Amino acid sequence: MPHGRITGWAAHLPERVLTNAELTTMVDTSDEWITARSGIRSRHVDGRVTEMSTVAGREAMAMAGVTPDRVDLLLLATTTPDQQFPASASVVQHNLGLTCGAVDMNAVCSGFVYGLVTAMQFINGGVERILLIGSDALSSIIDWEDRNTCVLFGDGAGAVVIERTGDQPSLLGWDLMSDGSAAGILYCDQGGKIVMHGREVFRQAVLAMASAAENAMTRAGITADDLALVVPHQANIRIIEASLKRLGIPMERASLVLAHTGNTSAASIPLALVDAIEAGRVAQGDLILMVGFGAGMSSAAAVLRWDPPTG
Ligand code: ACO
Repeated sequence: MPHGRITGWAAHLPERVLTNAELTTMVDTSDEWITARSGIRSRHVDGRVTEMSTVAGREAMAMAGVTPDRVDLLLLATTTPDQQFPASASVVQHNLGLTCGAVDMNAVCSGFVYGLVTAMQFINGGVERILLIGSDALSSIIDWEDRNTCVLFGDGAGAVVIERTGDQPSLLGWDLMSDGSAAGILYCDQGGKIVMHGREVFRQAVLAMASAAENAMTRAGITADDLALVVPHQANIRIIEASLKRLGIPMERASLVLAHTGNTSAASIPLALVDAIEAGRVAQGDLILMVGFGAGMSSAAAVLRWDPPTG
């Protein structure tokens, strides 16, 4: 029986760049503070989920050589859809000329990995081709007068095509978790702005990342030494450093884009994945760990054997 594998990928960032220097004209902050506390130097803003997703989705399909009529399902991981309804996935579906089911999935910053695991279950069930997009426009729900949050977030989209053409499984192990008791430490009310208790999110994020990663690796039957690449959620460089230290993974193995993207929620892992692929950091057969956490608190990890089509 053929297995699911990633056959196309693309990333997209909106044009408007907001630097730390520009933020210092908006709130009481400094480039030094933001860089030292988060690792972020600039971010892209003023994006719209349907527009960013359409660009990334189209490019990923072109790369995979998949025409719109051959896509069987569109999964869009987002927590900032353009509208309450219809689902942004429906708009993207129309933009791309797809004739298939389309649905938004919200697991906040864990959304892309939730989507990847979900897509692989559909593939195991016989679906041939899925377009999975992680896309968020957090600039639309930021309080630009709140220095605790406005320096951290940005907009973007990443997309992958998953096809049922692999000779062996590529998703080797995964872990999905949610701890709703922590819903109050990071949230956005309907029509509201992001509210965050940063220190508590930081503390729980490190634990959740390490736990999700360990569970996924155990289920995959591998150890940290077997990993060629780690693609962590890009929220804060210090969260990534602390989590990888707990896991015994050197930072050199992590893909990092947050310095120029900020935290793009569901887009963060695909943006960092595409960056690593395009930099030639993964070879056929390499094992990749993707691990994310987000409001909820949600967390998700997946161990993937890199198996793009050759030739
Ligand atoms: N510029 C200058 N000073 C600031 C800023 C700023 N932008 N923001 C906060 N401060 C101040 C605070 O007011 C505080 O001052 P006080 O001591 O007088 O009260 C001081 O800096 C230190 O604040 P801390 O909270 O101790 O700073 P910390 O080192 O924890 O860093 C940060 C703050 C960056 C928010 C960190 O806690 C963090 O990254 N938390 C996790 C955030 C995160 O990952 N969120 C996304 C989750 S994913 C999702 O689902 C969307």
